Amino acid sequence: MAVHLGDVAPDFTAETTEGTIHFHEYLGDSWGILFSHPKDFTPVCTTELGAFSKAKAEFDKRNTKLIGLSVDDVASHKAWAGDIGETQGTALNFPLIGDEDRKVAELYDMVHPNANDTLTVRSVFIIGPDKKVKLTLTYPASTGRSVPEILRVLDSLQLTAEYQVSTPVNWEEGGDVVISPAIPDDEAKERFPKGFTTLKPYLRMTPQPNR
Ligand code: BEZ
Repeated sequence: MAVHLGDVAPDFTAETTEGTIHFHEYLGDSWGILFSHPKDFTPVCTTELGAFSKAKAEFDKRNTKLIGLSVDDVASHKAWAGDIGETQGTALNFPLIGDEDRKVAELYDMVHPNANDTLTVRSVFIIGPDKKVKLTLTYPASTGRSVPEILRVLDSLQLTAEYQVSTPVNWEEGGDVVISPAIPDDEAKERFPKGFTTLKPYLRMTPQPNR
């Protein structure tokens, strides 16, 4: 079954490279990123796991736990982790789920049969501290994900969860944001003391409020 924005992220228990994990318990009060890899010992996945491991401090700063998944077993993942360390210059430093029975992949609709009927696509689920799904992304096996883009959307999700703003096209941390059209001007003046520019009544820009 597809997992949609706003749904409670399905809970599961799985074997991982860091032992048995109960997903919701693992997340605790943190944000979480669950992301799938089509298969062990494949080139793009190897680079992705290296890049996410290198960026772990950035995810920690954002109170966000990573957990990967591939449809091979944990013994295979552990052997593959050696290659990741050898070729990517970093150890794998977050758990990787052994999903050889595709239990979690099916729970999160990560196998798209018209793309490949056995391997997962590259899914990303960002989950908030309330355990609800805040963002989903789907890439084909042939296209590696972008860690800076995932950090960027995480920044946007965390900012917009706290303030009544949205982030415009190509927004990055520190850029101006859009005030929610639901807030009348009088209230906007109080909520956004740095001021705002009205381009249209529905398009009011203000400096990022938490900076
Ligand atoms: C890769 O990670 O390079 C990959 C995995 C599965 C299919 C194609 C490419």
